[in-house]
Amino acid sequence: MKFAFFDAKPYDIPSFEEYGSTAGVKFKFLETKLTEDTADLAKGCDGVCVFVNDTVNAEVIDKLQSLGVRLIALRCAGYNNVDMKHAEGKITIVRVPAYSPYAVAEHAMAMLLTSVRRIHKAYIRTKDFNFSLNGLTGFDLHGKTVGIVGTGKIGRVFADICKGFGMKILAYDKFPSEIEGVSYVTLDELFEQSDIISLHCPLTKETDRMINKKTIRKMKKGVILINTSRGALIDAEALVEGIKERQIGGACLDVYEEESDFFFNDFSNHIVHDDILARLISMPNVIVTSHQAFLTEEALRNIAETTVGNIVSFFETGECENKVK
Ligand code: NAI
Repeated sequence: MKFAFFDAKPYDIPSFEEYGSTAGVKFKFLETKLTEDTADLAKGCDGVCVFVNDTVNAEVIDKLQSLGVRLIALRCAGYNNVDMKHAEGKITIVRVPAYSPYAVAEHAMAMLLTSVRRIHKAYIRTKDFNFSLNGLTGFDLHGKTVGIVGTGKIGRVFADICKGFGMKILAYDKFPSEIEGVSYVTLDELFEQSDIISLHCPLTKETDRMINKKTIRKMKKGVILINTSRGALIDAEALVEGIKERQIGGACLDVYEEESDFFFNDFSNHIVHDDILARLISMPNVIVTSHQAFLTEEALRNIAETTVGNIVSFFETGECENKVK
């Protein structure tokens, strides 16, 4: 079996080569993202392997189908970049539902601690032998209220971590369950009562820009927002305004609405034309990482193992337990 592997990065290749070679799956690693213009590169392949910022719209699906591609193997959990309706009956989509909820939840906490203890500022200062503490006053997480939106695999791990810090945990989920030490509330109550809000729900029509001008106004003044889920959960323009008005005290963003134009690539010698992203990055109380939360050794191995397993299962049995329905 041959698979075109789009948006390949050096850190992806070793584990995919290892698991692929034992299972008889050959990957053609391509640096480019999958788009309408690059879909033809899958010619001669049985399937394509794609990530969060590849485009899998109707045009791409039709092109891939015409090339004889039968399977799109997402090497991620979210599938908001796939036109599922259009794919139905044409191409099968499989994904990696969980590879390490710990990787993402721990990154969310790393960002939160960095933000509230001003580690990003302190690191730069001491590198320059500036040992002044002025402006570095933080606050204790102990006793603070964290609001978790989406208590699935990642949200639950994040709740466990927050418990260890002695935080009060509120949660909102469309499908709430029983979690010890977690109180489910309405979304409005969560916005009103939380000192810190962390987003762990998928991007859907319902959750698209759930953080907007109106909902930001409902939040506690000085709230810290964490988004390790999908960029479009937050209206980035409203976020900038909220920070300028001091309604939002800090933002920890591993994802950004328009990230596919930038993330995973080096723009250090370019003028970035996205003024909202540039403004956010310029703010002292905003921390941006480049969709990095998943990136641990454990997660990379799990992603490769599950993806290769999905491919083998589909081509051997016609079925796959990780098929996106
Ligand atoms: P999951 O499917 O286990 O949990 C999602 C939770 O959100 C579920 O409990 C579900 O009931 C809830 N939910 C669904 N619709 C909702 C709504 N309208 N309002 C509130 N809650 C809602 O997913 P998991 O594995 O915890 O991942 C969460 C998200 O994290 C993914 O959708 C993905 O976008 C993102 N992610 C980000 C990564 C990164 O590297 N930054 C890596 C992996 C996932």
